[in-house]
Amino acid sequence: MRAILRFRAGLVYPRPRMSSDALTSHLTESRRFEPSPEFRARARVKSLDEYQRLYRESLDDPRAFWERETSDLVFRTRATSTCDGAPPHARWFTGATLNLTESCLDRHLATSDRHKAAIIWEGEPEAGGRPVETRTVTYGELHREVVALAGALRALGVTKGDRVILDLGLVPEAAIAMLACARIGAVHGVVFGGFAVEALRDRINDCGAKVVITQDGAFRRGNVVPMKATVDRALEEAKSVEKVIVLPRLGAAHAPIALQPGRDLLWSDALALDPRGGAAPEIVDAEHPLFILYTSGSTGKPKGVLHTTAGYLAGAHVSTRYAFDLRPEDLFWCTADIGWVTGHSYVVYGPLSNGATVLMYEGAPNAPDPGRFWRIIERHGVTVLYTAPTAIRAFMRWGDQHPSACDLSSLRLLGSVGEPINPEAWVWYHTVIGKGRCPIVDTWWQTETGTIMMVTLPGATFGKPGSTGLPFFGVEPDIWRADGSSAAPNEGGKLVLKRHHPSMLRTIWGDDERYQKTYYSEFSGTYFTGDGARRDEDGYYWVLGRIDDVLNIAGHRVGTAEIESAVVGHPAVAECAAVGRPDELKGQALVVFVTLKLGHDAGPSMRESILEQVSRDIGKFARPDEVRFADALPKTRSGKIMRRFLKDIAAGRSATGDASTLEDLTVLAKLSANEE
Ligand code: WT7
Repeated sequence: MRAILRFRAGLVYPRPRMSSDALTSHLTESRRFEPSPEFRARARVKSLDEYQRLYRESLDDPRAFWERETSDLVFRTRATSTCDGAPPHARWFTGATLNLTESCLDRHLATSDRHKAAIIWEGEPEAGGRPVETRTVTYGELHREVVALAGALRALGVTKGDRVILDLGLVPEAAIAMLACARIGAVHGVVFGGFAVEALRDRINDCGAKVVITQDGAFRRGNVVPMKATVDRALEEAKSVEKVIVLPRLGAAHAPIALQPGRDLLWSDALALDPRGGAAPEIVDAEHPLFILYTSGSTGKPKGVLHTTAGYLAGAHVSTRYAFDLRPEDLFWCTADIGWVTGHSYVVYGPLSNGATVLMYEGAPNAPDPGRFWRIIERHGVTVLYTAPTAIRAFMRWGDQHPSACDLSSLRLLGSVGEPINPEAWVWYHTVIGKGRCPIVDTWWQTETGTIMMVTLPGATFGKPGSTGLPFFGVEPDIWRADGSSAAPNEGGKLVLKRHHPSMLRTIWGDDERYQKTYYSEFSGTYFTGDGARRDEDGYYWVLGRIDDVLNIAGHRVGTAEIESAVVGHPAVAECAAVGRPDELKGQALVVFVTLKLGHDAGPSMRESILEQVSRDIGKFARPDEVRFADALPKTRSGKIMRRFLKDIAAGRSATGDASTLEDLTVLAKLSANEE
């Protein structure tokens, strides 16, 4: 096992090209992992040829492609055209009218799926190796609750186009609330349950929400996170909100919920207002807003990414079916938080529109111990696991004994999303979790794209550790140089999407100018992703990191992802973030922040062997100037390292700027205190 995990043999390190403006790739992973013949035989797309055929059709005849692939969805009237106008303001499925919840709920009621589990849920608290609470919600039950909550919202005066903020954890009611909003044509904005008062207040004010749906508190790593109290304080400075619906989650052992008379009501009382009041869905146009999702921008002002109805549904529906090779008997577990776009598309809308069963787990992966995920998989027989590299590296750090103690034989497919997966983690995931049997589907996309844009399509394509594969149907990426010409194979450049896709964001809520400037000004009229990437000779894409984070070390432009991948290739390293610090001599000095696996000590010899590793893997020029050991790195709750804070710390400044999406505020203080 060690030998496999500490592979180096498959890596080829070309000499770095000298170049001052091109982004150069220094790490080349040459191994390929073919899907097993058994997997391939049963897959939806069985070969590269078949993928190419479908892909060509999606570009050459989008109308035929999207009509066929969405023919099982419910439209009240069908579209008269597929795509009108040009980006940044293209529109999809003109003429179509629908209510998206009919595709996610009503259509399943007419079949035996009515009694099928839509959601299997586990709460975080566990006793004696078993969850204290589990719940199964069938499609029939889900429909009933959505109709009742939609009725409540209507009774409270919420109408089509009104905004509702959902401040909920991973509980079935989060899905119910999202669907209830969609049922009446209201626009939901889900925010992380862990937000501080100011962050919540700013988001409520930005969209002018009429109603907030929250819970008293959530269980997180054995602690209680207060939520209703935070909402109360945020509402002192958010005057648009008329009503607050509160889900009691914590139970009788906790403080009673303080309800503000006339404003607040309990979930159960809301449901009793008009239990059938949502039976008739609001039928909306294809481009009616579905949700706003706030994502971190470079400034402090929240950036509300807006998605609309029919295009988003089409993207979520089709990508879930193909990317995860979904079948009716699957138990699909996407571990993302509901406040993240991944939770929208692959916990709620995509799986439910396909009539799948999703697993939802409320808590942390190490609550009460690092074996929790693997017990969940064994207990429920999860077949598809979709998680993030940051989680995978945490599992590696905690040790193989945890997954090895559980029966993971139900798994047939593994997915990854959120950042480039370093080959070390890829191989561990494949070997220790997938036992070499399960293809790994790496999925590249963004909050803005709404759904998966690039993928190592399982069954059809081979995997290359660290590559996010080929474009998904309807997607036409390219790598551009600064002058807008296409880069040569393996030449790094800016990742653009040349064609509008149904599930792309339509604007930034309340700030169309910022929308156009952020995404369509780098290359006029073409969507710029913000990522640096290269495309190899097989057409596979490799994301090198955010362009803003590209390092310029003595004239070499290097993506952070490559440095980090080299550092985490060190057997003692758990996690790493590479940032630049201004340096008079070199332009930028390279600083790497490192957390070690359990049982390894920081010290001069560790530092030296990490430096050696980078010199060997990438080149002497990339040898970090500084290695800083830390207990933890500052991350968003979706697991993204917040490099701008690390840049501040590396430069000896105090970390400033919007910290509202930071998962654990104490991490920053500890890092700053950890100066060398
Ligand atoms: C950014 C988007 C994907 C939805 C959730 C995160 C990076 C995402 C991959 C991947 C390499 C990836 C990119 C992208 N990213 N997935 N498979 N391989 N990089 O959404 O917070 O909007 O972040 O995450 O840099 O632009 P997000």
